[in-house]
Amino acid sequence: MAEVIGISAGRKNKVTESLVRAILEGSGREYEFVSLSGKLIRPCEACNGCVKNNRCILDDDFQEVMEKCYQAEAIVFGAPNYWDHMNAKGQAFWERVCFSGRHNSLFPLEGKMGVIAAVAGTGNGEPVVDDIETYFEDARMHTVKEISVQGEYACFSCGHGNHCPVGGFVDMFPLGTKIKPEIIPSLTNQYPENPDLPHEERNLIKDARETGKILSKVMDTRKAKLKGFKNKKSTKK
Ligand SMILES: Cc1cc2nc3c(=O)[nH]c(=O)nc-3n(C[C@H](O)[C@H](O)[C@H](O)COP(=O)(O)O)c2cc1C
Repeated sequence: MAEVIGISAGRKNKVTESLVRAILEGSGREYEFVSLSGKLIRPCEACNGCVKNNRCILDDDFQEVMEKCYQAEAIVFGAPNYWDHMNAKGQAFWERVCFSGRHNSLFPLEGKMGVIAAVAGTGNGEPVVDDIETYFEDARMHTVKEISVQGEYACFSCGHGNHCPVGGFVDMFPLGTKIKPEIIPSLTNQYPENPDLPHEERNLIKDARETGKILSKVMDTRKAKLKGFKNKKSTKK
């Protein structure tokens, strides 16, 4: 049973995954990483099948991921910005978490700690942060920290990106620019379209690891508080 579960709703081996993984590594905790990419996560059908025992009854890959969330003390959730919101895969996941986990005032994720990892081609992860925060709050989780980074538009690898006038690539570089590794955004190569960016703002791996460290500290504080509370209770007897 992992103490921390990290979930990415982005592509396999891309920016959201690298961000979530760096946070998990930085935490120094026992962790498990799960990618929702390639998994079947249907949206909530509002079938009310979860009313009996606060468990979603739709039979797909949601179940195995949810089980890990029930077991973990903390959840690091990362998702990309699609059309100025968290992507549909992430939304589908949280629709089901939050609807199944609220009937009869029972909230199975209540008190768990959460870290938000947002990724956006423009660098504007704010809408994703807002979406995930809303779900964390609804699930009665405690948001420890959020981190937002620039991602890699799919236009960088679609084959038409550098000569397509309607893609994300042309918002960053002049039409026709040759796509070379050094101009592809990643966690360690932020805002390659801005050559004046200082090194510490270019490579955010340290910030991601620091986010993990902060999570770990909050987990320690929580544990110590809980222990003190239990000791107080036992001396009262
Ligand atoms: C369908 C789609 C819609 C997108 N919409 C936005 C958007 O509105 N704003 C933005 O900043 N990036 C947008 N992006 C870019 C993604 O946020 C970016 O590619 C991100 O790196 C994806 O995460 P990943 O690399 O972990 O897969 C969009 C990408 C896709 C595929």
